[in-house]
Parts: sequence; structure tokens; C-alpha cells
Amino acid sequence: MSPQEPSAPPAVWNSLEGLAYGGDYNPEQWPADTRMEDLELMKEAGVTFLSVGIFSWALLEPSEGEYDFAWLDEVMDNLAGAGIKVALATATAAPPAWLVRKHPEILPVTADGTVLGPGSRRHYTPSSAVYRRYATGITRVLAERYKDHPALALWHVDNELGCHVSEFYGDEDAAAFRRWLEGRYGTIEALNASWGTAFWSQHYASFEEILPPAVAPSTLNPGQQLDFQRFNSWALMDYYRSLLGVLREVTPGVPATTNLMVSSATKSMDYFDWAKDLDVIANDHYLVAADPERHIELAFSADLTRGVAGGDPWILMEHSTSAVNWQPRNQPKMPGEMLRNSLAHVARGADAVMFFQWRQSFAGSEKFHSAMVPHGGRETRVWREVVELGASLQRIGQVRGSLVEARVAIVFDYEAWWASELDSHPSEDVKYLDLLRAFHRSLFLRGISTDFVHPSASLEGYDLVLVCTLYSVTDAAAANIASAAQAGATVLVSYFSGIVDEQDHIRLGGYPGAFRDLLGISVEEFHPLLAGGTVKLSDGGAGSVWSEHVHVSGAAVGEASGAAVEASGGGASAEVLATFTEYPLDGVPALTRRSVGAGSALYLATFPDRNGIEALVDRLLAESGVSAVAVADPGVELTRRRTADGASFVFAINHSRADATVRVAGRELLTGKPFTGTVPASGVAVIAED
Ligand code: GAL
Repeated sequence: MSPQEPSAPPAVWNSLEGLAYGGDYNPEQWPADTRMEDLELMKEAGVTFLSVGIFSWALLEPSEGEYDFAWLDEVMDNLAGAGIKVALATATAAPPAWLVRKHPEILPVTADGTVLGPGSRRHYTPSSAVYRRYATGITRVLAERYKDHPALALWHVDNELGCHVSEFYGDEDAAAFRRWLEGRYGTIEALNASWGTAFWSQHYASFEEILPPAVAPSTLNPGQQLDFQRFNSWALMDYYRSLLGVLREVTPGVPATTNLMVSSATKSMDYFDWAKDLDVIANDHYLVAADPERHIELAFSADLTRGVAGGDPWILMEHSTSAVNWQPRNQPKMPGEMLRNSLAHVARGADAVMFFQWRQSFAGSEKFHSAMVPHGGRETRVWREVVELGASLQRIGQVRGSLVEARVAIVFDYEAWWASELDSHPSEDVKYLDLLRAFHRSLFLRGISTDFVHPSASLEGYDLVLVCTLYSVTDAAAANIASAAQAGATVLVSYFSGIVDEQDHIRLGGYPGAFRDLLGISVEEFHPLLAGGTVKLSDGGAGSVWSEHVHVSGAAVGEASGAAVEASGGGASAEVLATFTEYPLDGVPALTRRSVGAGSALYLATFPDRNGIEALVDRLLAESGVSAVAVADPGVELTRRRTADGASFVFAINHSRADATVRVAGRELLTGKPFTGTVPASGVAVIAED
């Protein structure tokens, strides 16, 4: 069913109270008495919302067409009796053994032709017609059975689509890829033109000749690679839509979603595209324990999740209470870290906090993964913190529905991420996220919130717009960014942005073709740096990764240094703020600024060192007038959420191990007392502002 159809179900929030709390619940792993104890413990912890049945297909349908719903009926009834709402899964994330035995053609195939077998999970390809038939079948049976169940609040479609495997190279995938290409291009000549197949004799006479870009003697066609990424993202979403169609038909009044994996590690799915078919955004997020700045990565992922949600509140569907089991060394969370993590997600727009999983398994490959109820039971630190978190979420329930305030936008595009990191580029060191995360980090440390905005979405209301490594960009998106500057924003564009269009065709006439006029500059040639290399800058700093031969428009080669030169096409001149100072780019602009309409457009031609980033952020904030949520000691994460009627809440999360001062006046909701101005070491304050 397409999202345009009128019958959008009511928001999940209508059936949840306050900030929802819970996790994945896998009762099928436990005997009846443990399931009864679960209900007691859930009450003690304040659990209100659980995802149920995610990996239950083989138990629900032990052989084809034979069902056993006894345990799930009991669980659903008991949860309803306890006032707990359920995100009921379609159970399709792990096909049962009988299905694989009967139809091994559903198994996924990797680029080198390896068939990924059963015995784990996610062993199906989303384009398999047979798999879709069986998956929509069990989905229909579940929907019919539980459609009127009082516990049912949300459909949890499959699980983490694209996890483990996100590219599919089997024969059925190849056929689906060809159909998708035909839909996109209409004619084979349009495809040839887009892929530039005049190169290396890659011309196709018909769609039948096309294969997925698997393994080849040398680099594969970039258009083909890019379209294969688009196709795989689409195929997973199309599979989701096939299940959604059944759910809409049987339960039009029940919202549906699937748990995304928005983070710095997930590149394969275009979640801005996916968001259109989800009734609420749900995300899973796991820290990398070895990363000393993991709380900053969390903030990045949560901000990006909010961007995918279009600013609306979202569900944190999974995170961990303590250690995971899938990193090389699985460290537990530090005391208080789980509360800080959870409230950091809420601070960045989550209105539900959930974990993988409720009770720690005693068998199976996730038995060393932490859970809300640890192996040690109630006499554990984790359990005490779980109970404390439940109580904390109840105390701050009034923040629900409020929106996070941000005046800074970072333009974010999965397509640009894919395209910028294709092979055969000037430098393999240009990574889409690196510069963008360096700016996000700097803003995070200053207590400034950032929204991630798709290049085609409105930039209205943002005073500072950062465009980093936006290698590919459509004409419309480039115009959207330029109009933000016209309207008064300070816009910074970095190197390797605006180089190609959506077909990965170079925008000719001098780089960056999409932004040359806006910036009043033109780049003649790239000078990527050698591994670990740096280049000195006239402001005393240094750049890494990249340098290039920039001309301020209108100036001949070698004239650019120092002087402000009139930009082509009239308008204000582009001013050179810093230059490279090393041969062969001595005197060539490295940072420029041009007044544009009511705003300005700056160009950055290298990756500045840490001090350079800070100095640049100082300049950008001064120019755009953006400031921190509040004055606070270092180490305090700050955000503000505001309700439609103007009530505002400041989240102050103290990541340091010393008490910290925050200058905000109001009532602190976790203690229920007037805010003293101090956030305890490693603690959190949520202040309802006066
Ligand atoms: C997620 C998955 C969960 C669980 C968890 C462990 O990727 O959705 O089922 O495996 O990881 O961290």
C-alpha cells in the first residue's frame, strides 16, 4: 500500500502513556514460571511497551500450515492484563528450517556467489517471490489472530532489514535489479547514457544483458554500482511494503514500523527514503565500547534518527543495558552510563526507551549480551539501574511530544555517502562522514544542537547550514542550499561537494559545478594528500586529506592570493580568508567567503586540524549568531526540547566525573526540586525551565 492512501493509522503515541519503556521480549525461550515472574519484574521496573515474537516463526508454525499460538496467546493476554502494550513482530526475520529445506532458493547470495545458509538468522533474500509468499502468509495469520487484541499497539515488521546482509547477488535478485532498472530508465539507451557505457565497451543492447556488479577484473561501472546500492535499499523496502500491505488490509487502524539501524556504521539503506513508509521511526543503537567518545557517536546517531523522523518524536527500539556480545572485547557500561545513554536519546527526540532484551538468554549466541534482567537476577547493578531508569522516565513524562530545538543544519544524504565513496576516486581517504562528524562533534561539545536535513528538505529557520562532502547533488538540492544563503543563513560548503549530478556525471566547467556560482570560486585540479600527510595554512593551522587548486572566480591562475576578487556573474566578491602556504599551492585559497543575499557562502578546501575546526566553528557561530543551549562547564551535553505551547525542558547530561555547573533556572524533574545549578558527577538533570 502506498503512503498516499488516505487511511493512515492513528499515531502509536495514542496508545502509549508518558515515555514508553521496555524492550524485546522473547518469552518463548523460558518456562511458564519464569514468564509469570517476568510480569512481576516488569511492574517493578515500570515497563510499558515490549516488542514480541521477532524470532518466533519456527515455534509459531512448526511445520508448514500447522500453528501453535498457545504460548503467544498467553503472553499477549498476560501483558494486556498488566497494562503493557506490544509491538508485535511479523516473525519473519528468521525463516524456519522446513521452509529453507523446501525452498533453498530463498537463501541470500553474496558477490562471490556464496550462498548464506541457515542456522543463524536473516537467511533470505528480499526479492525472493517464494519468501515473500511465505512471509506475507505468516504475517496475515498473525494479523488476523491478534487484530483486536488489546495489547497490540504497533506492528514490528521483520527486524533490522539489511542487518548482516544488505546486498543480494542471486539470480532472482539480478532479475529484480533488471526490472528495477527498466522502471527507472524506461529504455536501454537511457540507461546507457546514464551509466556512460561508451566507456570500456560497456554498452548494453537490452536489459537482459545486465548483471549485478559482482566481481570483475577491475573497477566496475560507477553508475551500475550506484544503482545497485539504490536497488538494494529499495528491494529491502519493497519487501517491507509487501508485509505492510497485508497489515494495512487486515489492521488498518494499527500503525507499523520496522527498527532501523541509523548510526555512523550503517551506510546501505537510504533511511530518508524509507521513512516515507514508516508510521513512526524506530531505531536501534549500540555503542562501540572501545570508543572513548561513544557518547558523541550516540548523539550523532540520535540526531540523524531525528532527521530521518523529520524532527518528530521517535522510538529507541533497542539499545543495551550493558555489554553486547558481538564486539571483539565486550566491556560493560560504566555505572550510570545506561541512564545517561537513555536520557541522551530522549534529549535528542526519543519518546520511548527500549532495550535488546528483557531477560538475558541462558542459551544461544546472545547469552553474553546484557539485558534488563541479567543472569544474576534482581541482586545486580544492572537491575537496580533498570528500575531507576523506569522511575526516571516516569518523572520526566511531560517532555513527551516536545520537539528538539536546533538552529544548525548539517545536510545529510545517503546517496552522496554511497557516491562519494565509490572506487577510482581522487583519494580513498575522503570518507563521507569524517568532516561532517568533526563539525557535529565540535557543536556537541559546545552544547549546540544540530539537525540532519536531507538536501531536498526545507532549510528554512536554520541560521547555519553545513554542507560536507556532498559529492553528488541534484540541481534542485543545489538550488535549495543556495536559497538558504540568500535567505540569510551562513552556508559552509566543503571540498568534494557538488562535483557530480545524481547520475555520477561530472558537472563540467570547473569544480564544484553545483556550487561554483554560490561560492564565487572554481577549482581547477585536486591535490589529495598522501596517507597521513598535512598541508600548512596561512592561519597557522594545517589541513589533512585534501588540498586543491582553488581560484576565486574572475581571477586568473596565481592571482587569487589574499585579494578579494569580484565573483563571476556580479554580486559580492568572494574573499580569501586563508590560503595554502606550501608548494605547489602556495598562496592558493583554502577558505573563502562570499556575501550572498542576506547570508553568506563559505568554501573550505581542506580538512582542518582540530584547532582549525574550532576556529572555523567560532567564526561560523559568530557570523550566524548561533549559541549554546546554556552556559555550562565542559563535559556537559545540552539540548532543549520545547512543547507546542511553549514549555521548555533542558537536558543536561554530565559526562565528566566531577560535579558540573549549568546556568539554567527551573524545576529539576528527576528530583522534583528547584534546580540547584549543579549536575552531579556522571549524572543527568532535566530542567523544566521557568
Ligand atoms: C540487533 C538485533 C537484536 C539483537 C541485538 C544485539 O541487531 O536486532 O535482535 O541481536 O542486535 O545487540
